[in-house]
Amino acid sequence: MRVGLISDLHIDINKDYPIVELTAETAAEQMTDVLVIAGDISETQNQTLQAIERLQSLCEFPVYYVPGNHDMWNKNCPECTTEEIDRIYREDLRCLSGKPVILEKDGRQLALVGDVGWYDYSMASPEYSRDVLDGMMMDGRTWQDKLYNQWTEDNQKQMFLCLKQLEKQLKDCGSLPVLAITHMLPVKDFCVPEKPDGIKWGFFNAFLGSTALEELYKKYPVRYAVCGHVHYRSTVERDGIRHICPCLGYHTEWPLYHLADDRAQTHIRDALYILETS
Ligand SMILES: [Fe+2]
Repeated sequence: MRVGLISDLHIDINKDYPIVELTAETAAEQMTDVLVIAGDISETQNQTLQAIERLQSLCEFPVYYVPGNHDMWNKNCPECTTEEIDRIYREDLRCLSGKPVILEKDGRQLALVGDVGWYDYSMASPEYSRDVLDGMMMDGRTWQDKLYNQWTEDNQKQMFLCLKQLEKQLKDCGSLPVLAITHMLPVKDFCVPEKPDGIKWGFFNAFLGSTALEELYKKYPVRYAVCGHVHYRSTVERDGIRHICPCLGYHTEWPLYHLADDRAQTHIRDALYILETS
C-alpha cells in the first residue's frame, strides 16, 4: 500500500499558492492509495474543513487528517471553547481523532490511528521547572497556544487524556500493523536544536510533543508514526518504528531547504512522503 503523508500545509499563511490543488496533484502523480495530513491545515475551523472537503473532491483515493495546534486555535472564533473546536473535528468523518480506520489492499490491512496529540514538557531542557514552563513565555516570547487554546491551562492533563484516547484506538486495532498519526512529536529526535537565533529552544521544545507517545507506541504493533508541528522534514527509525515528519511549513521557511527552486510544487514534492507498507 502506498500512503502519502504530509503535514503543516498552512493554507492561510501560504495563501498565495494553490496548496490544496498541488497536494492532490502530487499525491496522484505518486499513485498513492490514501493521503494523510498530520495537522496544521489552517487557523480557522471552517477553512480547515473546507480544505479537506476540496482535497477529497480532487482525489480519487481517501483523504484523512488529524488537526494540528493551529487548527485548534480560537483566534478567528474567540467565542468558541477548545472543547467545542475539538468536537467539530471529532464529528468530521475524515478526521482520525477518536476513530481508527482500517485500510486494505491486496489482502493486507493497515490500521490508522490518530489524534492532535499534546505536550507534557518531556522534551524541555531539564533546567526549567514545571511552574516556569506553565507560563509558556520566555524572553518576551509567548508560545501562541497559550493565547488561543484553553487546554494550555493544564497541559499535563490534556496529554494524559490524549494518551488514553490513543490507547483505546490502539486496543481496538488488535494485532494489525498500525500507522499512528499525531500533530505533536512522539520523539525528541525532531526537536529544535539550540541555535544562534536568540530563541531558547530548550524551553520552547517543551511545547512540541511528548516522549510518552513513543512509549505508548512501543507497547502496540505500531510500525510507522507520523507527526508535523516542527517544520523540519525528517525521518528516524528506532525500536522497529519508522518516525516520519513530512512538513510543508511556511513559504518563508522554504529557502532554508536549499532546493533547486522555491516553487510550492517543488516543496510539496519534497515534503510528501510516500510510505510503502509491506
Ligand atoms: Fe505548523
